[in-house]
Amino acid sequence: MTEEGFSCRIIGISGSLRPHSHTRRAVEAALAGAAAAGAKVEFVDLREFALPFCPGSASALAEYPAVTRLRKIIQTADAVILGSPEYHGSFSGVLKNALDVTELEDWQGKLIALIGISGGSQGPGGALSGLRDVGRGLHAWVLPQQVAIAAAHKAFDAEGQLLDDVRQRLEKLGQQAVEALKHLPPRSR
Ligand SMILES: Cc1cc2nc3c(=O)[nH]c(=O)nc-3n(C[C@H](O)[C@H](O)[C@H](O)COP(=O)(O)O)c2cc1C
Repeated sequence: MTEEGFSCRIIGISGSLRPHSHTRRAVEAALAGAAAAGAKVEFVDLREFALPFCPGSASALAEYPAVTRLRKIIQTADAVILGSPEYHGSFSGVLKNALDVTELEDWQGKLIALIGISGGSQGPGGALSGLRDVGRGLHAWVLPQQVAIAAAHKAFDAEGQLLDDVRQRLEKLGQQAVEALKHLPPRSR
């Protein structure tokens, strides 16, 4: 509990399926910040979902248990932290497809917080602005604050741990998501 009577559930999804993904670690750090601020948190690993390519029809999607499972998890969350690597100037197709197999109703009134990671020094601006547009398309509230990590390999130490200053930025995003939820109308809480 962050204050009397307030509780929230925040999940994190990474758009990278790569083992030892930087994006996954960044999303987990943001979730840790949210947990420290009182949220119940869960990392949702898309590798554990045998999602089909979006066939473009809800009735076709209803046949896939993985789609139903993912949608239920999203429905139970108050906020979703979406992290994506920069892939050719935008966010990953893995993440777009995962969003495309959900329905608009899953996102109504939900908060989305964004993290972008790029291998290059120019940063993940394409991924972040693309995801911000998609958040609007999903009718979610997209948190103004976001975390952009450029030159991802420099954000980790020799042991593969996030550098302290980067971790703190990510944890702060998780805290900001919890704070923002206190100002949104209760949706499913
Ligand atoms: C298909 C693909 C496209 C990429 N495109 C870009 C790019 O446009 N700009 C960039 O800076 N890095 C690009 N990268 C590098 C990734 O952003 C970088 O390796 C990132 O850390 C990957 O995230 P991950 O560690 O979570 O898998 C690309 C990588 C892949 C696999």
